[in-house]
Amino acid sequence: MGINVLIVGSGGREHAIAWKLAQSSKLKKLWAIPGNTGIDNYAETVDIQETDIDTICKFVEDKAIDLTIIGPEIPLAAGITDMLTYQGFRVVGPTKAAAQLETSKSFAKKIMRENNIPTAHSETFTDATLAKEYVNQLDSLVVIKADGLAAGKGVTVCDNLEEAETAIKKILIEKAYGDAGKKILVEERMFGRETSAHAFTDGINVKHMPFSCDHKPVYDNNLGPNTGGMGVYSPPTWLTEEIKKDIEQNITERAIKSMAQNETPYTGILYPGLMLTETGPRVVEFNARFGDPETEVLLPKLETDLLEIFDAIGDKRLSEVKVEWNDNASVGVILASGGYPDSYEIGKPIHGLENIDSNVQIFMSGVMSDDNDNLYTAGGRVLCVVASGTSIDEARELAYSNVNRISFEGMHYRTDIGSVL
Ligand code: AMP
Ligand code: GLY
Repeated sequence: MGINVLIVGSGGREHAIAWKLAQSSKLKKLWAIPGNTGIDNYAETVDIQETDIDTICKFVEDKAIDLTIIGPEIPLAAGITDMLTYQGFRVVGPTKAAAQLETSKSFAKKIMRENNIPTAHSETFTDATLAKEYVNQLDSLVVIKADGLAAGKGVTVCDNLEEAETAIKKILIEKAYGDAGKKILVEERMFGRETSAHAFTDGINVKHMPFSCDHKPVYDNNLGPNTGGMGVYSPPTWLTEEIKKDIEQNITERAIKSMAQNETPYTGILYPGLMLTETGPRVVEFNARFGDPETEVLLPKLETDLLEIFDAIGDKRLSEVKVEWNDNASVGVILASGGYPDSYEIGKPIHGLENIDSNVQIFMSGVMSDDNDNLYTAGGRVLCVVASGTSIDEARELAYSNVNRISFEGMHYRTDIGSVL
């Protein structure tokens, strides 16, 4: 008995998922496509591209895989869930149509408008002149967004008219994001603290995860360009129970319910990114997957067997599972390559991992190893160092005392994760 599981993806998020699944007594064997050096400790990694859907389907059939977990958005956008489901396999991750909540910002806005889900006002444009005219008429600040997936780079939060015009030109005229920028959204700029909500869903039943907060700008005090995320803490003590309930019911559950009513049921993980504005919580964006690095901080808090949850999602019986979390506070700090999020060099030897405390987790993203198991940098975000404690302060101290034992040439990280609450 036991379940054969495949994870698709290669980041710290998938490392954390593999680490957690490996603790399950229900697991028979774990594979990862393509996986990474950290995942290699828990799964057989297979060198197939995560968008090569035909080859992945064949692999699932050959290895009699019972359940496939999709980590990143790119294979979801390419329709991996549709293809696996069509062939009779169970998947955790939304269909291409449902993943549009993330892959098309205009689709997400339409769902929000129709269902009274609070978000920034926006207008969609394909013509740069019309977009500029519209921005000129407004007397408020705007955010310019490419409609499609642009690896987190398609969003410009503008401080003035000039920045908005430059962003419009970059997307619609210079086509900096290709087809992802055929359409843009000109969105009202919101102000407030940000938080990430995450939920498991089988399309009908919803189990909410704890709230967490990512730090997107590269430098301390939220300065510098945005990245994929430089660190996370959970829980945000500044979020009241009332606001959390409001987000869970009036944003996450409402979105999932409306997707089911529209006959594009949403299954897998839904992660709304939110801003707590003067008028209450409003959606910044929906993501059709676990956040990275949020997952690295959330999964160490999960007390329930993750495979039991995924298995229940696969069978559409999530209501039967009691999902429990511990009350620990957790902090995760990303160690990045010199130059990231712009260009950076790879292949730098990573030192000090042998000195990490046993109660601290290291999740790997951009890491490669040689034949002697020496580790080298292989990406922008390299490692996530995760520590827990009874308070955010305690977790942060433990995380940074371990960060200080790790080094590689050019390594940089934020020193204020969890302290700029
Ligand atoms: P996204 O790639 O959609 O997550 O956006 C990246 C970041 O841009 C978000 O985390 C916010 O900090 C910021 N952002 C996006 N939309 C808005 C908005 N309407 N108002 C203010 N900030 C925004
Ligand atoms: N933490 C940002 C993201 O996963 O999109």
